[in-house]
Amino acid sequence: MYEMKEEYYTGIEQIDEEHKRLFEIADEAYELYHNEFIPDKYDNIAEILQELRDYTKTHFAHEEAYMESIGYKNMFVQKVQHAQFCDKLDELNLEHIDENSEEAIQNILTFLTDWLVHHILEHDMMIAE
Ligand SMILES: [Fe+2]
Repeated sequence: MYEMKEEYYTGIEQIDEEHKRLFEIADEAYELYHNEFIPDKYDNIAEILQELRDYTKTHFAHEEAYMESIGYKNMFVQKVQHAQFCDKLDELNLEHIDENSEEAIQNILTFLTDWLVHHILEHDMMIAE
């Protein structure tokens, strides 16, 4: 469902590898959610989302270090966006969502991946230029 696509590649190897991993984690959550044979998957999804949170933070830190190393002009915009996204991820609390609400989980995953795609295409691409 979710995957790294050709047009998401910035050409900066480490950043691309990390973006790839982010999509993999989002996809793991999606696949797990739709797997009808695993009991207690709610906890597993919460775990994966936590991994996504942690990995996103690590990735942003790397990306910011890279921007700093090349003296990237629009770093401030990036930092603000990264911080806002981390806040949103931290605010997510699966326990507040009805366990049977497939739509709610789907919405979260869609939000996360849409944000990533737009951010990569509109902002991270500019780092590579
Ligand atoms: Fe970024």
